[in-house]
Amino acid sequence: MNYDQDVTESIPDSAAELRAARSRSFGAEAAAYAEHRPDYPVAALEWGLPGGGRGRILDLAAGTGKLTGNLLSLGGVTVIAVEPDDGMRAELSRRLPAVEAYPGTAERIPLPDNSVDAVFAGQAFHWFDVSSALTEIARILRPGGTVAALWNHDDESVPWVAAFSALVRTGVSRGWADASRPLPEHPGFHPFDRARFPHAHRRTAETLTATVATHSRFLVATGAERAAALAKVREFLRDTPETADGEFELPLVTTVIRAERR
Ligand SMILES: C[S@@+](CC[C@H](N)C(=O)[O-])C[C@H]1O[C@@H](n2cnc3c(N)ncnc32)[C@H](O)[C@@H]1O
Repeated sequence: MNYDQDVTESIPDSAAELRAARSRSFGAEAAAYAEHRPDYPVAALEWGLPGGGRGRILDLAAGTGKLTGNLLSLGGVTVIAVEPDDGMRAELSRRLPAVEAYPGTAERIPLPDNSVDAVFAGQAFHWFDVSSALTEIARILRPGGTVAALWNHDDESVPWVAAFSALVRTGVSRGWADASRPLPEHPGFHPFDRARFPHAHRRTAETLTATVATHSRFLVATGAERAAALAKVREFLRDTPETADGEFELPLVTTVIRAERR
């Protein structure tokens, strides 16, 4: 399972409305999202901030603040959040009341020109109109600042994880995490780089099922489809020795793409 991006990309252009509905689906389950989605490894954040620079960081499409909290823990940073969904933003403000959080999208960011040192987007870049988002990100970044997009996905080199992934995934693409996919290009940025970092999410069969339930694919499904799919997930986890009892680590890989503002 590549949390959102792979299944999204399996949707053809003619399903633009479904795609848009999925991109707006998260707020309905904001508290579950905050509780059950994984965070991001420090090494991945550090890689997204080359040059040791810290300063003002925008968490774009910040959701409930999973990445915002990780960025704050780096220390020496001011983190600002932009998130279009009112429910997600309310959850972020409940969890991180000191963080300035604004409504806005990647294509229309409510910040002045040259006003931040770095822009991060966790599990969200695939929802953006990439060309207009990069133009907008270039506008608010100072020259030499960086943009970094991160995704967590299951580590399919582990056999039981590959089987689990196959069960919950509907698409074939691994999105921007796929090494064969060309990186974005934009005149405002030096060429993008890509790197991967090991990560893990401590789960039980029940909480991993709850994680799956926060994926947009299931948020927009009918109640019956959702219940049937989650029942299959539960059955798989119950029948798999690594996940049947108690707590376990779900092995993840965090992919980061980053570029420096010209
Ligand atoms: C999967 S969540 C990721 C949330 C958070 N960044 C995290 O790491 O947990 C995707 C988020 O992207 C937001 N989103 C969708 N389309 C967007 C857009 N065009 N611009 C900005 N945010 C968008 C959604 O509202 C949602 O909160």
